[in-house]
Amino acid sequence: MSYRAAFRVWRGDADGGDLRDYTVEANEGEVVLDIIHRLQATQAPDLAVRWNCKAGKCGSCSAEINGRPRLMCMTRMSTFAPDEVVTVTPMRAFPVIRDLVTDVSFNYVKAREIESFTPPPDLAPGEYRMAQADVQRSQEFRKCIECFLCQNVCHVVRDHEENKDAYAGPRFLMRIAELEMHPLDTADRRDAAQTEHGLGLCNITKCCTEVCPEGIHITDNALIPMKERVADRRYDPVVWLGTRLFRRRREDH
Ligand code: SF4
Ligand code: F3S
Ligand code: FES
Repeated sequence: MSYRAAFRVWRGDADGGDLRDYTVEANEGEVVLDIIHRLQATQAPDLAVRWNCKAGKCGSCSAEINGRPRLMCMTRMSTFAPDEVVTVTPMRAFPVIRDLVTDVSFNYVKAREIESFTPPPDLAPGEYRMAQADVQRSQEFRKCIECFLCQNVCHVVRDHEENKDAYAGPRFLMRIAELEMHPLDTADRRDAAQTEHGLGLCNITKCCTEVCPEGIHITDNALIPMKERVADRRYDPVVWLGTRLFRRRREDH
């Protein structure tokens, strides 16, 4: 079945823009990205859109469809009634470059700020051995395709540009949790998670988990366990005593 789909697409650049209406052919089995490509091929050759795999694996085609952060290539047209207007806008938390393409470099900055995997110094590459049971939990986080939809939806930065410096966002707090749970990682990441990467700003609203196209339980399996580890350290009586003794010893000198 073929029909004429009503699309409303944001057109513009860093200086501003607006929503434009288009009517585009849609066919059975197609996804939103197919319609955007047809629009580009037939009516709007200068429409900017980022995509690579069209299979939900590269994480490039992130946008907001009827206000919900989604991958365009994984959103079936059958989700919408044939007479429904489908509105496609760029991700809101990142600066627009043009049309549906945003500048996601904030995420690469945050990735670089995380201390890298730190294996024991006496192990050479090739000697790493881990039991499956020990990597079971963090393996889920490796499914991330870096679409940044979770980063885009988290209210801590979505409406608060001023929080971006202090907050790594769910994808990268999850990365810290992944390394913290890694059996061969020797770094203690708990203080840095709280003081440098803003873990305390996450108030577990779970919007990140709701939009993750990989179905990763970001909040329940990464962020909450990480918060628990930080709390354990802060309120651990041994750590508390150690800090007091250390402070007293410094005061004595
Ligand atoms: Fe995308 Fe999920 Fe990875 Fe976030 S955690 S970047 S939503 S795949
Ligand atoms: Fe944001 Fe997810 Fe926490 S949406 S507030 S990172 S639970
Ligand atoms: Fe690769 Fe959509 S084009 S995830």
